[in-house]
Amino acid sequence: MTDDKQKILETIPQKGFFGHPKGLLTLFSIEFWERFSYYGMRAILLFYIYYATTKGGLGLDKATAASIMSIYGSLVYMSTIIGGWLADRILGSRSTIIFGGILIAFGHLALSVPGSVPALYISMALIILGSGILKPNLSNIVGDLYSKTDYRRDAGFSIFYAGANAGALLAPLIVGTVGQMYSFHLGFSIAAIGMIIGLIWYALTSRKSLGQAGRYVPNPLTPDEKSKVLTRLGIGALVIIILLIVTITTGLLTINRFTYVVSILGIIIPLVYFIVMYTSKKTTADEKSRIVAYIPLFITAICFWCIQEQGSTIFSEVADSQTKLDFGWLHIQSSWFQSVNPLYIVILAPVFAAVWTKLGKRQPSTPVKFSVGVILSGISFLIMVIPFVLPGNHHAINPLWLVISLLSVTLGELFLSPVGVSATTKLAPAAFASQTMSVWYLTDASAQAINAQLVKFFNFNTEVVYFTVIGIISIIIGIILLLLSKKIHGLMRGVD
Ligand code: GLN
Ligand code: ALA
Repeated sequence: MTDDKQKILETIPQKGFFGHPKGLLTLFSIEFWERFSYYGMRAILLFYIYYATTKGGLGLDKATAASIMSIYGSLVYMSTIIGGWLADRILGSRSTIIFGGILIAFGHLALSVPGSVPALYISMALIILGSGILKPNLSNIVGDLYSKTDYRRDAGFSIFYAGANAGALLAPLIVGTVGQMYSFHLGFSIAAIGMIIGLIWYALTSRKSLGQAGRYVPNPLTPDEKSKVLTRLGIGALVIIILLIVTITTGLLTINRFTYVVSILGIIIPLVYFIVMYTSKKTTADEKSRIVAYIPLFITAICFWCIQEQGSTIFSEVADSQTKLDFGWLHIQSSWFQSVNPLYIVILAPVFAAVWTKLGKRQPSTPVKFSVGVILSGISFLIMVIPFVLPGNHHAINPLWLVISLLSVTLGELFLSPVGVSATTKLAPAAFASQTMSVWYLTDASAQAINAQLVKFFNFNTEVVYFTVIGIISIIIGIILLLLSKKIHGLMRGVD
């Protein structure tokens, strides 16, 4: 395998993009456009779901809308498990990416014409599957561009993360503005166009720039396994489809019940993952210790994403209905607040990278960085309490409160997210390497699965308690992790 990796590396042009392999530009671009379409869609989707039909929306209630946004986000990250498996056993990363991109484009197109709730669900299903299979594979190929010892590797990942955030930054300004000023459907069409541009660019440039990266199937199914797996998949899909048809038509499956199912999956799937990894014969004693070390980090990351992901649900709701948006001639679109987090990331990520490099060996350990990350996210919720307890118009708070609160959670993201990916890579047992990205994305999936229940408690009357309780719980989790950090670091067995 190492030999194979070396041979593949020799087919990849190693220069051409600011001293990085030119393939990084190809991957940066498709990630940019995919995230543009995803975050553009999310910037207006909440409003589309709860705005009255007379205002072009679907007219559901706000709590249900926020809950749908959360299960949607959760399933997107949960389905990265499928993406990892598909590439590893059947298709290889490169082909999986193309399929994923096509599904996503169709998903956005499904919302580009006026429709009703079923169109929303079809779109969601396509995007869940599409993003789930595309996203982990892009990250995997970024890793394939560099040898394990290449000093440019971490910088490569940072540039790639910047690509995601550049897309997320631009999308609300374009898709959000068009969606809110003209029509939601026009907004969703622009998201579709973004994904199509990304795919065309990828198709045109990947052959030359990526060499053989992602072309191979790392652990192909044997013909025997293939027929078994395909039969099981077929039967499984059939059972699910029949179950859905029966439960929906008989009224047994309501949105509310479905959110419970996803929330329970959000807990069960990681549990199963950890048990399988821990009990696997291929996992060594050191690796077992690392899994134990990883569990508190995993829980902390869930807590962090719980807050971060409420940026596109609860914060969006506050921005739209309780924030002052008119300043003389300037009308701020509520969707623009979705650009604040990625804007901070684009500006501050290089600063963080430089500080970590400068500190070198003196930088804080992974558990310490995680605790700082989650504490900052807790503080961001506590900041949101202030405008609602101060005297003033609680239906037109100063937008700066949101901007400051988002700064705190984004600083937390910079402490936790890039470190989290690399910690997962180092702590996951070697036999599960192909699923590393999925394990990391499961932190976000579980977080949003929990959010699907949490957000139901939020309304004008509960918001002070809501922000206070969640903020304080996050800070307590951060402090516990800080107290345990030395112990966890010891269990990591040589990994920083
Ligand atoms: N916001 C980032 C992205 O969409 C990271 C998400 C995550 O790691 N959970 O790429
Ligand atoms: N900060 C979010 C992510 O990194 C948008 O993409």
